[in-house]
Amino acid sequence: MFRNFTCGDLRHSDINSEVTLSGWVHKVRDKGFVVWVDLRDRYGITQLVFDEERSDKALLEKARELGRETVIQITGTVIERASKNPKIPTGDIEVLVSNLHILNPSILPPFTIEDDTDGGDDLRMKFRYLDIRRNPIKNNLIFRHKVTMEVRKYLSNDGFIEVETPYLIKSTPEGARDFLVPSRMNEGQFYALPQSPQTFKQLLMVGGMDKYFQIVKCFRDEDLRADRQPEFTQIDCEMAFVEQEDVLNTFEGLTKHLLKSIHNIDTGDFPRMTYDEAMRTYGNDKPDIRFGMEFGELNSVAQHKDFNVFNSAELVVGIAVPGAASYTRKEIDQLIDWVKRPQVGAKGMVYVKYNEDGSFKSSVDKFYDQDDLAQWAKITGAKTGDLICVLSGNINETRAQLSALRMELAERLGLRKPNEFAPLWVIDFPLLELDEETGTYHAMHHPFTSPKPGQMELLDSDPSAVRANAYDLVLNGNEIGGGSIRIHDKDIQATMFKHLGFTPEEAKAQFGFLMDAFQYGAPPHGGIAFGLDRLVAILGGQETIRDFIAFPKNNSGRDVMIDAPATIDQSQLDELHLKLNL
Ligand code: AMO
Repeated sequence: MFRNFTCGDLRHSDINSEVTLSGWVHKVRDKGFVVWVDLRDRYGITQLVFDEERSDKALLEKARELGRETVIQITGTVIERASKNPKIPTGDIEVLVSNLHILNPSILPPFTIEDDTDGGDDLRMKFRYLDIRRNPIKNNLIFRHKVTMEVRKYLSNDGFIEVETPYLIKSTPEGARDFLVPSRMNEGQFYALPQSPQTFKQLLMVGGMDKYFQIVKCFRDEDLRADRQPEFTQIDCEMAFVEQEDVLNTFEGLTKHLLKSIHNIDTGDFPRMTYDEAMRTYGNDKPDIRFGMEFGELNSVAQHKDFNVFNSAELVVGIAVPGAASYTRKEIDQLIDWVKRPQVGAKGMVYVKYNEDGSFKSSVDKFYDQDDLAQWAKITGAKTGDLICVLSGNINETRAQLSALRMELAERLGLRKPNEFAPLWVIDFPLLELDEETGTYHAMHHPFTSPKPGQMELLDSDPSAVRANAYDLVLNGNEIGGGSIRIHDKDIQATMFKHLGFTPEEAKAQFGFLMDAFQYGAPPHGGIAFGLDRLVAILGGQETIRDFIAFPKNNSGRDVMIDAPATIDQSQLDELHLKLNL
């Protein structure tokens, strides 16, 4: 028997018990006549003690020489600590060791296994198995498990069945590039790894599995960001015989259950906002509504004066930044430099200080009098002491720029509180999105999304006006889920492919299997998929998903621990009928 207790178990009530523990040497403190060893495992830390008075001399020497991260097994007696450590649950006791067995020594780890480690990102990723021994990562993985269990429990109790779908499939368009797998047995042919199980879950609806879910890996070859990984996990769900309202209610229920079971937070019904409203009010389709700073459109009050920058702009729009009227000239200049960075791309920024005495001081005082500026304040909701920041230009770009500024300022002002949760549904997304470069339309969600009732006709005359039965669940400024009501009629699906630029032959070659299935009694259906990694990170009060994934990829899509991707042998290439042209 390696252990009869873990390193997190022992309490005051265990004093005088004989125990056996196994774990890693966390730290050795050698005071000469006494040696303390912190023994660590997944469950906690227990202090071991060896001393000149009570321990055998050879044992004391052995303890003194223990290196960090050595795996040991000890037997001993639980005794009361002279100086207690209220910071850890085992802090009342220590174990007076009578027997020490080294199970496996460790070479010196490349960084210390502590909450605040001295290891940089690259080192932590290369030795991720050591990183996982640290509390922050270990706790994130345990947290992820807890969230996942709650999801499975809630959905199973609601009648959902978890069904696995294949990974070796053909392209499922979700807007990214596919990862491809060459087939040995079918020369010159490739599988694609699923960007999502979208088509399979729809086929499960045709198969009568009317409430499906799956916690499933998805693969997308796209540029990485803090909230994106090339392989990530979805909570993928689909239901038959439902309308949008049914799907929203079901998954609002799941999200409320998670907030309650994980954080004991009761939320009321989630607000719903149309895509158009979200873009107008926050310049973003995933608004963070934990704080205000809503957009105020100023065209009607700021144009047709003598300020040509505004006169020539499609949109003039501002936000009131709480308490920022006290910013110094230097601080404001820094803000202007910030919006002019290429990543944001604004040409400049107009500002108005709404002083405590009720007067205004702006960078455009030459063109606007106090009454004009009072109107700006009214529209942006500014109060005395606030700073109004105004951007102008083309609608889409200006909104995106002001949204970036809003988020940056909220971050700086501490308004994005990690333990506050503000979910909302964004609904009525456009069905199609114009690709400015090619001038063609593509599906904003995916090609299987159904237009809102009665809008099919608009597809010919005004494609960008068509709204979809598509929705996103947004939490604290992050898109954590997205879904839609699907097309379940073969002809409508064929028309949709036509509008997306597929010839009937291309549509048949790529998605014939789905359209064929629709001929055999496909029920009305719809669903959603949550990004599990994002959901877990946000519930855990963070926005970077990497440390909620045991073995993530770095920003170049590499696993630096196992060194993948890697080249393969010529014999493997030959077997796969592949010729490299490097
Ligand atoms: P969508 O493409 O919106 O929808 O994806 C659903 C959710 O998955 C998460 N997500 C990601 N998380 C981490 N890394 C990535 N690279 C990544 N890409 C997406 C997001 C997103 O909201 N089949 C549809 C769903 C449906 O219609 O039911 C789909 O995949 O949180």
